[in-house]
Amino acid sequence: MKHSLLILTGHSKGLGRAILDTYLQKDNYTIIAISRSKLGLKHPNLHEVSIDLGDLDVLENKLPEFFPSGDYEEVVLINNAGWIGEIKPVGVLQVKQMRAQVNVNLLAPMYLTNAFVAAYKDSNAKKIICNISSGASSRPVAGWAGYCSTKAAIAMFTQVAEKEHENSQFRFFSLAPGIIDTEMQDEIRQAEESDFPDLARFKNYKVAGDLSSPETVAAKVSYLLDHSEDFEGVIQDVRAFDLP
Ligand SMILES: NC(=O)c1ccc[n+]([C@@H]2O[C@H](COP(=O)([O-])OP(=O)(O)OC[C@H]3O[C@@H](n4cnc5c(N)ncnc54)[C@H](OP(=O)(O)O)[C@@H]3O)[C@@H](O)[C@H]2O)c1
Repeated sequence: MKHSLLILTGHSKGLGRAILDTYLQKDNYTIIAISRSKLGLKHPNLHEVSIDLGDLDVLENKLPEFFPSGDYEEVVLINNAGWIGEIKPVGVLQVKQMRAQVNVNLLAPMYLTNAFVAAYKDSNAKKIICNISSGASSRPVAGWAGYCSTKAAIAMFTQVAEKEHENSQFRFFSLAPGIIDTEMQDEIRQAEESDFPDLARFKNYKVAGDLSSPETVAAKVSYLLDHSEDFEGVIQDVRAFDLP
């Protein structure tokens, strides 16, 4: 079987960990997995890289390591790492935290997408970039100014990239994964109600069992990428389709 390549950020927990497990089961993918923490899994197809995606100078220097050349059947980049940021209103946000959030949610996936396109533009492989966005990219949420705006920006960046590569073998998706039972949701539930008026609603999602499991969402991400030709457009939402 011909080999494929997956570059995945934010693999250490949450949705990224479930995506990692899904692709490890496929056997034919070499996986370059990037987070601050390593899982330490011993698997011949897995190469874990520990970096802080908020440190853009380190990321820039490491970029050549992430995109090996090879006769791949498919090359996939999933920019999944993300941070909800400080949950507070505009006016009291800390400059360093804003900068870290923009770096992780927006600039790091922009760097990686740009370098991925440069690395594989002449490859005959099927080439897919999936930037994990959020429903919050198109809906203002009080307390989430940095989160909503960085997710909106990466969604637009992805749409522009698709427009520029319309008649190429590249395919770009900006994917909203729904509301998932991960540490990010834990962090959201720990916000102060005075900073985050939607707190009760988010606490209720957990109590009512309305959160998707990371495994369910990862299966949908994998289905979308395996059947990319069945999906029209850049902006996608896992809640818009069911698995067969
Ligand atoms: N959970 C939801 O309900 C929800 C809803 C909509 C969209 N999303 C999006 O889905 C994606 C995954 O979210 P999740 O809920 O799985 O989040 P999570 O449980 O908080 O996991 C985030 C992942 O990103 C990595 N990461 C965070 N900051 C990083 C940094 N500075 N450098 C390198 N890696 C970093 C983390 O690894 P380390 O900590 O080891 O670095 C971790 O693997 C995010 O883009 C998020 O915005 C989630």
